[in-house]
Amino acid sequence: MAAAGSSTHRISIGLLGFGTVGSNVYNLINNQGIEIAQATGASVTVKKILVRDVSIPREDAPQNLFTENFEEILEDPEISLVVELIGGIEPAFDYITSLLERGKAVVTANKQLLSQKGFYLFRLAREKKTQIRFEASVAGAIPVIKVLRESMIAADLTSVYGIVNGTTNFILTEMSRTGAKYGDALANAQEWGYAEADPTEDISGKDAAAKMAILASIAFHAAVSLEDVACVGIEHISSLDISYARNLDLTIKLLGVAKLYGNKINVRVYPALLKKDHPLATVSGAYNAVFLKGNAIDEIMLSGPGAGGMETASAVVSDIAAIIAREKPGVLENVAPWREMEFYPDDEVISKFYLRLEVEDEPGVLAEIAQVFGDHEVSVESVIQQGRGAHAELVMVFHPVKEAGFREALEKIAALPVIKSQPRPIRVEDNGNEQ
Ligand SMILES: NC(=O)c1ccc[n+]([C@@H]2O[C@H](COP(=O)([O-])OP(=O)(O)OC[C@H]3O[C@@H](n4cnc5c(N)ncnc54)[C@H](OP(=O)(O)O)[C@@H]3O)[C@@H](O)[C@H]2O)c1
Repeated sequence: MAAAGSSTHRISIGLLGFGTVGSNVYNLINNQGIEIAQATGASVTVKKILVRDVSIPREDAPQNLFTENFEEILEDPEISLVVELIGGIEPAFDYITSLLERGKAVVTANKQLLSQKGFYLFRLAREKKTQIRFEASVAGAIPVIKVLRESMIAADLTSVYGIVNGTTNFILTEMSRTGAKYGDALANAQEWGYAEADPTEDISGKDAAAKMAILASIAFHAAVSLEDVACVGIEHISSLDISYARNLDLTIKLLGVAKLYGNKINVRVYPALLKKDHPLATVSGAYNAVFLKGNAIDEIMLSGPGAGGMETASAVVSDIAAIIAREKPGVLENVAPWREMEFYPDDEVISKFYLRLEVEDEPGVLAEIAQVFGDHEVSVESVIQQGRGAHAELVMVFHPVKEAGFREALEKIAALPVIKSQPRPIRVEDNGNEQ
């Protein structure tokens, strides 16, 4: 790529994919040409667009830009920057690898790919002295990757919390706002376009886990991939839990948590209860937020729309501008993991828990349950008991406890004849004070 500096400098771009985000990127590049030229000193044009079927008429762009042949983009010496927006692992991985091998810069929004093959691609980009940028892969329009890469170099980060899946945040917000059951809130989310027809990736926590793997890698310069991130989804959250939580002044979120424990790292996704005054508790609907804690920065929260064609495209275009404006790879472009880090075991993490138990309504039950918890040194902070016909419900909040001990106690509790349904604890996040 020639040096930027005057607006006569021209950059030709290749686009892979012309779906929701791809078509918006094309339109933004054309509509925001002056702003991009002012910011980068270059005029940017889309020279070729890869699609699967060129015979489909597309209104947004002239037909002669479309090609079905990736080689046309790869081999074009004028195209120095390529934007991958086809999604999935293959052929995206193969395409990006070939582009980086040729020294072409790449922008992608592909969280699945980066959470599984990111390190390989980051290293390859570094080796080939080119750049790969991926702002849109996490939290849509929120510039969190840029902040982590460029503004947090000396922040001494200790934890990254994220509400990084808009679908689940929308569902949980609806359940809290209206008292709706999980199934009804999901159906509403699908009807209003906030959830896919097949919402499995979102509600299982897997989409959030992919994004947390990327965030943790960048925040802690460590190799964290999707398989290192255990996740629990929101399928088992009941409207009863939500109403009890409200009485306890807590609100429920699907939270991604990446934390340092000394030299070890722990990254997970799970439904968590937050105090109403926690900054993340106010993030509602399909919005996303990332909350950073560091020794040198105290706390910083970034929030905004986590998806949407135009919002995501704006993040892609800002990556394009950043690449053009920073021609030479230096420390800011180095996202290859450089730190060897062990993983901190889930069992050792100390957490606070909420637990709702459906039990026989008979004398001595609470004492029997308290005994089992006591035997495992799990101490109860508060209990609410409520009769429900033949059964009663116990809602318990526990003091911070090592997770292994809590799980052992819970297994014993679950096996007691007085327990009437599968106990499903929810972690209570105490703004990082629980360790
Ligand atoms: N949409 C969002 O709000 C959002 C937010 C954040 C990140 N992202 C990420 O952005 C990327 C694109 O998402 P999207 O919503 O734009 O998806 P999309 O609407 O499904 O668009 C993908 C496009 O890529 C094309 N494509 C797929 N395989 C191809 C191949 N082998 N060769 C050429 N074209 C191919 C598809 O063509 P056909 O029409 O022929 O299938 C489709 O037009 C994904 O990685 C996604 O995770 C999206």
